[in-house]
Amino acid sequence: MTVEIQTSRNEEVLLADITVAAEDQIIHQRDTDSRWWRSSVIYQIYPKSFRDSSGDGIGDLPGITAGLDSLKELGVDAVWLSPFYKSPQKDGGYDVTDYCDVDPLFGTLNDFDTMIARAQELGIKTIIDLVPNHCSSENVHFKAALAAAPGSPERDMFIFRDGKGETGELPPNNWKSHFEGSAWTRVVEQDGTLGQWYLHLFDSSQPDFNWDNPTVHAEFERILRFWLDKGVTGFRVDVAHALVKKAGLPDWDGKPNGKSSPGFPGSEAPMFGQPEVHDIYRSWRRILDSYEGDRVLCAEANVDPAPRIADWVRKDEMHQAFNFSYLYCNWDAEALRTVITDSFAAFDAVGAPTTWVLSNHDKVRHASRFGTDKRADGIGPDDVQPDAALGLSRARAATLCMLALPGGAYLYQGEELGLPDNTMIAPEFRQDPSFFRSGGKRIGRDGCRVPLPWVRSGNSYGFSESGASWLPQQESWSELSREAQRENQNSTLSMYRRALALRKEFELGRGSFAFSSEFADESGVIAFVNGSTQVVMNMGTEPVEVFGNVLLASDPASIIDGYLLPNRAVWLTA
Ligand code: GLC
Repeated sequence: MTVEIQTSRNEEVLLADITVAAEDQIIHQRDTDSRWWRSSVIYQIYPKSFRDSSGDGIGDLPGITAGLDSLKELGVDAVWLSPFYKSPQKDGGYDVTDYCDVDPLFGTLNDFDTMIARAQELGIKTIIDLVPNHCSSENVHFKAALAAAPGSPERDMFIFRDGKGETGELPPNNWKSHFEGSAWTRVVEQDGTLGQWYLHLFDSSQPDFNWDNPTVHAEFERILRFWLDKGVTGFRVDVAHALVKKAGLPDWDGKPNGKSSPGFPGSEAPMFGQPEVHDIYRSWRRILDSYEGDRVLCAEANVDPAPRIADWVRKDEMHQAFNFSYLYCNWDAEALRTVITDSFAAFDAVGAPTTWVLSNHDKVRHASRFGTDKRADGIGPDDVQPDAALGLSRARAATLCMLALPGGAYLYQGEELGLPDNTMIAPEFRQDPSFFRSGGKRIGRDGCRVPLPWVRSGNSYGFSESGASWLPQQESWSELSREAQRENQNSTLSMYRRALALRKEFELGRGSFAFSSEFADESGVIAFVNGSTQVVMNMGTEPVEVFGNVLLASDPASIIDGYLLPNRAVWLTA
């Protein structure tokens, strides 16, 4: 299968033998283990924004069911659903009141059954989000803890402590919330006096569970079994590095996210990556293994460096862990080469696949990220706006690079449309708790969570038949709609579909990896060979000469006179 691209040399591309040359070093061997998750492409659905069937402007489970055909057409192996559980939605559903029920916003448990059955019919596996670090402050366990006395078993489900200072007026330690401000909130006791403090690494509406308490373990085992019995293929585990806190809860002066900073290697953060956390996943793995089928756990373990992430995917633990260093890497070939090399070294050392990812519901979409230097905490109307054309061109190239890397890959809904963030959302629409907790200083993550455009016209581009949309879309999204792109051979959607089909055909997810030595002197180029496919991505500013038959190009004008233009990528074959 070859793809037509318009280059002036289209008919006479030079043939070169694309095999690993003697000087190319294979740094990752072909995977002989064919279990599905080792090379799968998993599509993240953010239920609120995928498709709305009820007309309330909020996506729902029947909407997902209706959209599954399009994911089959895209060619993904599985879907991962962000939370759809009962929740007051203070943090987009990552604040759960009932882990075993569907929030009415999204439908019912029956709707879930229908959805998963349809997915099974289409050969698509279903992974759901598990949020074990914290629940909602509306959760029955937390309400019971508030109603109970200090020192009670109810309080021991959470992390309650007396405050410091003469009257307990100071928080028990200096930990910061991920969403700004202190990680502690003081409660009013039943007698009306100010009392103990509880820990919340995120919003105050998300109290952290106490994983030193066996009751918490038992509760989550029950939850795991509930969904496994319903037929889910597995779980993406939210903040999987945070469940166990260091005994004594010592102060921490490093970054609130626990990542490395000078003088503070990430491993020292007392709230992340504690060794005991791994025992939890070993016990969950045993539960999953007791079920039929190849069920999986995927860690959101946002630690660094790569060998520490790989700890989550040792043989008896989880199956996958997102490779966040890859997602965080700037448009910089040298840095990317290092990330890829280090990732293979770290994950191969534990016999696990690397799980590549470029976008998710927490980060500025890569079509926007690569069009600007601004990285963190969202892009708002007052920021320098991304260069949309540059961002999209780089995003498409980056995707081709990612999808040719051996291992698993995650896609985030909308990236197959080349969707940018909506960077123009007005303050009154904002929902992200980090926006409110920082007094608007942090724009937050709403921009990457905007409902998908399905068709060219209509108030919400077919997201909802009523035309409603819980976050505003942008007018320019008509041509980004699925409808518009399905008809266009050169669209981002068509590129994703072809990439996924070729990836399957050539078993790239199970392939080997060697950087191509012929490009060693080109500092702005990432070039590698996976089996019989060579990938060249030009991250520099000058065109580079490439040889071979073009299997797939990141856009129709990628190659001119045998030269690959900057911000483009190609898959080549002999
Ligand atoms: C994870 C989720 C994010 C959520 C946070 C707290 O990082 O991806 O959306 O806000 O955990 O649950």
